[in-house]
Amino acid sequence: MKKYNVGIIGATGMVGQRFALLLANHPWFTVTALAASARSAGKTYKEAVESRWAMTDPLPENLADLVIYDATADIEKIVSLVDFVFCAVDMKKPDILALEENYAKHECPVVSNNSANRFTPDVPMVIPELNPEHINIIPAQRKRLGTKRGFIAVKSNCSLQSYVPALFPLDKEFGLEKCLVCTYQAISGAGKTFERWPEMIDNVIPYIGGEEEKSEREPLKIWGKIEGDRIALANAPEFTAQCLRVPVSDGHMAAVFATFKNKPTKDQILEIWKNFRGVPQELNLPHAPKQFLNYFEEDNMPQTKLNRNLEGGMAVSIGRLREDTQYDYKFVCLSHNTLRGAAGGGVLLAELLCAKGYMD
Ligand SMILES: NC(=O)c1ccc[n+]([C@@H]2O[C@H](COP(=O)([O-])OP(=O)(O)OC[C@H]3O[C@@H](n4cnc5c(N)ncnc54)[C@H](OP(=O)(O)O)[C@@H]3O)[C@@H](O)[C@H]2O)c1
Repeated sequence: MKKYNVGIIGATGMVGQRFALLLANHPWFTVTALAASARSAGKTYKEAVESRWAMTDPLPENLADLVIYDATADIEKIVSLVDFVFCAVDMKKPDILALEENYAKHECPVVSNNSANRFTPDVPMVIPELNPEHINIIPAQRKRLGTKRGFIAVKSNCSLQSYVPALFPLDKEFGLEKCLVCTYQAISGAGKTFERWPEMIDNVIPYIGGEEEKSEREPLKIWGKIEGDRIALANAPEFTAQCLRVPVSDGHMAAVFATFKNKPTKDQILEIWKNFRGVPQELNLPHAPKQFLNYFEEDNMPQTKLNRNLEGGMAVSIGRLREDTQYDYKFVCLSHNTLRGAAGGGVLLAELLCAKGYMD
């Protein structure tokens, strides 16, 4: 496989630090540029993050002495050093739209974790096992942007990375009619640790700004279809969500209730989860989990602390499937929010785009 030089925009943040760990020894990607805000620019990576390194693994030595660029002011320099960039920044939506489009227009593809472009009609929002064909919209996006190489591809929100993969293959067989979901989300999802957010110790906060809308609406783009030069949103299934912040460092849990057009048996559901494979597994992409959907028979599983790192944090853990009195079935599921839900999902999407020739 060809090697690609890559940049991390937002390298100092919670997701950026995850990217640094995942990319430091990646078989296809070499990190050649790190960028963040003007506050970090000019410092080495080690200097910029040493007081706020939030990962349990140490800062990768081969990235420690790279000097951070200013993501906006140094764009010409950055794009000269890389084949494409990963982007995870905490900025206002119009500023993120401008930043990502600027990189794309400099012929530098952007794989983004930010929400700003998720509903841009010709920007694919991809969970690689579920809707890989949405990347076929990229030529239409390039036409709109007037680029030859540059484009933006995004991953979906971390809250839905467990329940949407569990439901998507069931919908194909049995027609998912409606779903109610309550999520129990880790503090790293807000870019925080317990040191930086002590109010979260021994506490639950029943509000995460914008999260319920994302959890209900983004699945409709995943379920959408390419129509001409846009991805048309599906108008079903129906989702309703409540999202709670819980005192957990990493890992988003979801309690799911689902009703189908044709109610499956419990065994049929388990069989579909067990046998589910996607394009990343077929292509054997470096970050593809061997078994994406993993069902646990024990009543007290999955547990956030025990299961969030399954297959390098790229697999989904499911448990407690049983019939419900109001919906057909209920179950719980779990995924690692900064791995599968953020940086890992971004890396897997980039691997898919490379394998399909979009980064050449
Ligand atoms: N955390 C998660 O689990 C998760 C999951 C999915 C998606 N996301 C998304 O990923 C993005 C980053 O989240 P995070 O949790 O990593 O946030 P974070 O820890 O607050 O980090 C924010 C990053 O953005 C950079 N930044 C801020 N203003 C900037 C500017 N004007 N120009 C360039 N860079 C700037 C920061 O650089 P400085 O250090 O220089 O300030 C830092 O690197 C957000 O859009 C978030 O919604 C997060």
